[in-house]
Amino acid sequence: MTLVNPRSWILKAHKEGFAIGGFNANNFEQLQAIVKAAELENAPVIVQISHRALLYLGNGNEITGLQYFADMAKRAAANSTAPIALHLDHGTELEATQAIGLGFTSVMFDGESHTREENIAISKKITDLAHKMDICMEAEIGAVPKPDGAELDEADLVLTDPDDALDFVEKTSVDMLAIALGSVHGMQAKENDLDLARLKEIRAKVETPLVLHGSSGVTNEAIQAAIKMGLSKINIATQLNKAFTLGVRKALDEKQNLVDPRKYLTQGMEAQIEVVRERIQFLGSSGKA
Ligand code: G3H
Ligand code: ZN
Repeated sequence: MTLVNPRSWILKAHKEGFAIGGFNANNFEQLQAIVKAAELENAPVIVQISHRALLYLGNGNEITGLQYFADMAKRAAANSTAPIALHLDHGTELEATQAIGLGFTSVMFDGESHTREENIAISKKITDLAHKMDICMEAEIGAVPKPDGAELDEADLVLTDPDDALDFVEKTSVDMLAIALGSVHGMQAKENDLDLARLKEIRAKVETPLVLHGSSGVTNEAIQAAIKMGLSKINIATQLNKAFTLGVRKALDEKQNLVDPRKYLTQGMEAQIEVVRERIQFLGSSGKA
């Protein structure tokens, strides 16, 4: 299959009360694991790559990273029976514009380092371009912190204001709106709750499908309740990294003389496939291809 625009999946999920996984990949093996799991679950999946993963793939050049990942994802989709969308996660304006030209079927602009007015203006500009090219557009209002191993600075957590969310979607026409409900990026344990009362208020004002970032650190109970209340795209990264790395570590621990990357990376992939399958089932998107 060719890469698919995920907008119709998200609208269906929104209407029927399930969610689509936005699964992050940093390399070829993680991409393969997501695609394989989608096939095994007969599920639509969004494969996504973040700004920092682009720098990693492109040896410090994010545009090279976009080119590598677009090529790999197109080939993976062509060889797969599952519907695959390719999404830019936490992109800059430059990356989003380039990704649209390179065949990504969905993009997110991360306006966190911009003022509210700039976030609206840039999101609107990219949305207009994306819609001309039949590409899905996500942007964010509020802030989900990215402490990246450091201690969390509470000031970095800015919960989404319901009136701001309404104003943002009216001014930008984005297809998916990422909101902050108390999650934090990069957590290895599922300890956080979500502000469901806030989600209810946002939902009462905003019809646009909503996105949860930082889901790895959120309890399953909170995610499930939030999906029922109208979250339609759930982003998952750290949980996948953890599974992949534990698989590799196990392989290396078991055989001290193992040096063939094909062997230990395969064990990483296998461990990740299981977690992606479990998340697809949990989100309710198994069998929805
Ligand atoms: O954009 C990606 C996500 O928000 C994933 O966050 O690493 O906490 O699962 P996570
Ligand atoms: Zn995120």
